[in-house]
Amino acid sequence: MEIRKVGVLGCGLMGSGIAQTCATAGFDVTVLEVEQKYLDKGFAGIDKSLAKFAEKGTLKEPVDAIRKRLKGTTKAVDLAHCDIVIEAIIENVAQKKDMYAALDAVVKKDAIFASNTSSISITELMTATRRPERFIGLHFFNPVPLMKLVEVVRTIATADDVYESAYEFAKKLGKVPVRTSDKTGFIVNRLLVPYLLDAIRAYEEGVGSIEDIDSAMKLGCGYPMGPFTLLDFVGLDTTYYITHVMYDEFKERRFASPPLLKRLVMAGWYGRKTGKGFYDYSDPNSPKANKL
Ligand code: CAA
Repeated sequence: MEIRKVGVLGCGLMGSGIAQTCATAGFDVTVLEVEQKYLDKGFAGIDKSLAKFAEKGTLKEPVDAIRKRLKGTTKAVDLAHCDIVIEAIIENVAQKKDMYAALDAVVKKDAIFASNTSSISITELMTATRRPERFIGLHFFNPVPLMKLVEVVRTIATADDVYESAYEFAKKLGKVPVRTSDKTGFIVNRLLVPYLLDAIRAYEEGVGSIEDIDSAMKLGCGYPMGPFTLLDFVGLDTTYYITHVMYDEFKERRFASPPLLKRLVMAGWYGRKTGKGFYDYSDPNSPKANKL
């Protein structure tokens, strides 16, 4: 099946990035949010990001032409004719299932439903709809317009043609898709989360300071960010939530939250988005490690 019209659920960091990427690749995109103010905020971020790409000269067409393909709405019915609907709302199983159930009733029967969840079971989400064979995971990475990877996740019920359409769609977005199946964490978080949690444990055990562990992994392994910078970037609340889902699934210590992560989350220090996490971002250009 050919995908032309894309629906995106949620206009937060991930939803707006996905919408921008789809529109830049030539797709008509409608973004659904609960209130206009969230659309305004997400679209302002898109405008800023598109302006950066335009400045660098990496866009194939003027920003206006891309923006014309992007629409925001607060009514689910406006997604009725989409060929694919990509959900990127808050990581909450009940809210996601409610949203899928509502959309299942209004979106055309042969549309593909995809979730951008990083840790929730695609199989569980699919049960909220009557289209299990047309349900997949499409896991993008933050910042979506820059990160090349998309994990294309199949369940035991996903139809082969649906999976291949989604895989080709990810390629048309200019991304590099990888094939994976509905096992908690998929490929990236299965490997990344224990590494990030181990960095926190290493710090707790006095192996090195926050800055030194970050420098070591950045310069010693060629990673773009050290583990604490990345944790603050992903969000400590998000990471903490993922550890719960992964620990619940595998019951292995490597997926369990270290006490320090829990304390930071309890204190409301979620990383960059709250201005404080492992680092203090009072001066965003020169973050200082907190004394923890
Ligand atoms: N739109 C457009 N341009 C952007 C942008 C955006 N959203 N964000 C950054 N840029 C631009 C910057 O302006 C900058 O442009 P110039 O070169 O002209 O200055 C350029 O991209 C590079 O950015 P920075 O100089 O800020 O920093 P950088 O070179 O380190 O690149 C990065 C930024 C791509 C984020 C890089 O640090 C990186 O790859 N970090 C790792 C990110 C990562 O691992 N993400 C995955 C997290 S895990 C996840 O998402 C999944 C999950 O389930 C939790």
